[in-house]
Amino acid sequence: MKILSIETSCDETGISVLQKENSSETITLLGNALASQIALHAQYGGVFPAMAKRAHAEKIVPLLKAALLEAQPLHTKESSLGTDNKELILSICKREDEMVSDFVDLFNTYEKPDIDYIAVTVGPGLEPALWVGINAAKVLSTVWNIPVIPVNHMEGHVVTAAVTEESGDKKSYTFQELQFPLLALLVSGGHTELVLTKNYGDYEKIGQTRDDAVGEAFDKVARMLGLPYPGGPAISKMAKEFRASGKAQPFELPRPMIHSQDYDFSYSGIKTATLYTIRDLGHELTDEEKMALAAAFEDAAIEVLVKKTIKAIEEFNIQTVVVGGGVAGNTYLREQLMQTVQKKFPQTTVLFPEPWLATDNAVMIGLAAFARVLNNTMATQDALTLKANGNLSIER
Ligand code: KG4
Ligand code: ZN
Repeated sequence: MKILSIETSCDETGISVLQKENSSETITLLGNALASQIALHAQYGGVFPAMAKRAHAEKIVPLLKAALLEAQPLHTKESSLGTDNKELILSICKREDEMVSDFVDLFNTYEKPDIDYIAVTVGPGLEPALWVGINAAKVLSTVWNIPVIPVNHMEGHVVTAAVTEESGDKKSYTFQELQFPLLALLVSGGHTELVLTKNYGDYEKIGQTRDDAVGEAFDKVARMLGLPYPGGPAISKMAKEFRASGKAQPFELPRPMIHSQDYDFSYSGIKTATLYTIRDLGHELTDEEKMALAAAFEDAAIEVLVKKTIKAIEEFNIQTVVVGGGVAGNTYLREQLMQTVQKKFPQTTVLFPEPWLATDNAVMIGLAAFARVLNNTMATQDALTLKANGNLSIER
């Protein structure tokens, strides 16, 4: 079975082709193309939906072609696309006219490839960005007659921690045997949530941020410190240098909601406290102060995540913790969570994704679709009825 997957929920345009043979457990990545808009959004310190949408629409068909050609030889076509199909493409892509001529070109050049399903992110995310991937899926599904599997982006982040890469070349994945109940800590630029999972695909959100997401706080604090977008990796690097220096920490930032009885989070308070700390210093930050503040922020941000995760492990007798989303790439979170769980609940397994799967990509969307195929919970949807849902919840 071959699945073509499409991801456009935020600022990465991703297309992948994954394959699973009936006789094997292994899922092979045959083709993968990813274009990041980081450079485009870096100058503004965050993602602008309208710009993200245009950049996705410009890149998506060239990436599709690259991923398909990497995955398999494509047969060139004898006859050109009929007027019916041309009109269909025009009507589906009426808000993404950048894609129209690229699609017409693609369909005029190549025969239908050997693909069984198209998996596409339908939410959550930025709706204008999501629509680009969805409309691309509509076009491909209709012209090539391939069924579509709608995928929740957060489920993609969950499965990235549950696969093992075997061959060292980022190409072969197998799903690990997971022990339930499982807890997913989902931490990205748009989400901070704890999700309880008693069975695969059956999710219950037990807590979430009441304001900013943790990744968003990393990005905003990075901006205050004059660091580039996305802020997570830059802050983390400075914080690490500060800790290695052994110097005393001059700053103390709050840990909002750390003692609350629920599993909710709040990150706007730490961000504001950082702003006030900078303001109260009354001078341009020195490099040393920036490093110390980066560490103070990372300490506070990560401590709350670890504390609430531990509380949930205890209350729900959690056997496996999976961490997903861009912030799962944070090495300090990894160290702190692994150490604390190992000490307090040694029977509980903590799984993190490989760093290249932590931030947004299309491999995770294809893997989420395969996870559903393997668990017999895969559902297709008539492509023309697909809709973007920016607030789509992981709960059904
Ligand atoms: O999952 P993702 O790629 O996109 C969303 O779905 O939001 O997550 C991006 C977020 C950004 O806020 C970025 O600053 C954060 O993940 N991030 C990190 C790290 N790498 C990325 N945050 C902390 N430490 C990191 N190493
Ligand atoms: Zn994401």
